[in-house]
Amino acid sequence: MKTFIVASLLCCIVVIQAQSQDCKCYSHYDGKCNSGGGVGQPCQCTLQIGPDTRPADCEKLIPKCLLMKKESLGTKAGRRVRPAGALIDNDGLYNPDCEDNGSFKARQCNGTEMCWCVNSAGVRRTEKADKASKTCPELVRTFWVIVQMKRNNTDAVSIQDLETAIRKVITERYRLPAKYIKKVEFEENLIYVDLMQNSTEKVPGEVDIADVGYYMEKDIKGDSIIASTSPFTIPVNGKNFLVQEPLIMYIDEKPHELSMKRLTAGVIAVIVVVVVAIVAGIIVLVLTRRKRGKYEKAEMKEMNEVQKELNS
Ligand SMILES: *[C@@H]1O[C@H](CO)[C@@H](O)[C@H](O)[C@H]1NC(C)=O
Ligand SMILES: *[C@@H]1O[C@H](CO)[C@@H](O)[C@H](O)[C@H]1NC(C)=O
Repeated sequence: MKTFIVASLLCCIVVIQAQSQDCKCYSHYDGKCNSGGGVGQPCQCTLQIGPDTRPADCEKLIPKCLLMKKESLGTKAGRRVRPAGALIDNDGLYNPDCEDNGSFKARQCNGTEMCWCVNSAGVRRTEKADKASKTCPELVRTFWVIVQMKRNNTDAVSIQDLETAIRKVITERYRLPAKYIKKVEFEENLIYVDLMQNSTEKVPGEVDIADVGYYMEKDIKGDSIIASTSPFTIPVNGKNFLVQEPLIMYIDEKPHELSMKRLTAGVIAVIVVVVVAIVAGIIVLVLTRRKRGKYEKAEMKEMNEVQKELNS
């Protein structure tokens, strides 16, 4: 009898320990999880966003809108409230309005009287206008995210191994289904990853390519959002392949409404292309050029041409 009680106690302790080990927030370093202490209880997690504690799915990437909100409302650790008027040197960061499911509201005002429309990646796609006059009838989907990065690794590695490693990071670390990684491309010291997921393909609840882009950007900058127990590495031949200087580009399903002249390089690290028909043309061009092994920054060139056309 005694042995039985001891054994069952031990068993319970082991189960509880195993659970509390599993019940951790993977997708945010600041997420808090709790299994309620009970055996068989689900692991429930929350994330502090400014003054609010929100329920969070810690097995899936946290939507970019919530991350930006958290970032704009607090310091990295999220404990201290930023003093009024304090600026941070991070182009494109504002305090967004999010839907309950974590997606961006189509119209954003950043708490001011000037508003603008954003795409599903939260990037501004119209001019700013008076709050009263600015309406945004729908949230336009960003169906193509290009992640550009520089290799800071002079080791000779096989392109095949590197591509496999990068695809593995995206499917395992960010949990994006492999079918959305359309292409991984190498050009001198630059690496391009094309993520494509249109509105007909996207299943509700599935991780969004815009969220993957945001997590990748932070990871490459060494400012990871994922818990520190899972550091960002691209293992190739048993060594961590180092990358730096991420640049994320967003292409929407509908043409944006920005005046191209104001899209000055360096200020806006974001390019939203103009006409869906032209986009289709670009894809064909890029793909055929890439097939011929002559990639030569085709996108950027094409986008410049598009800009010229618009300006003329
Ligand atoms: C590349 O990485 C090394 C560390 O491994 C760092 O010292 C160096 O500054 C990096 N190069 C550039 C251009 O940032
Ligand atoms: C979405 O992508 C799928 C697969 O690439 C394609 O068959 C479909 O036509 C696309 N839908 C739209 C609306 O572009």
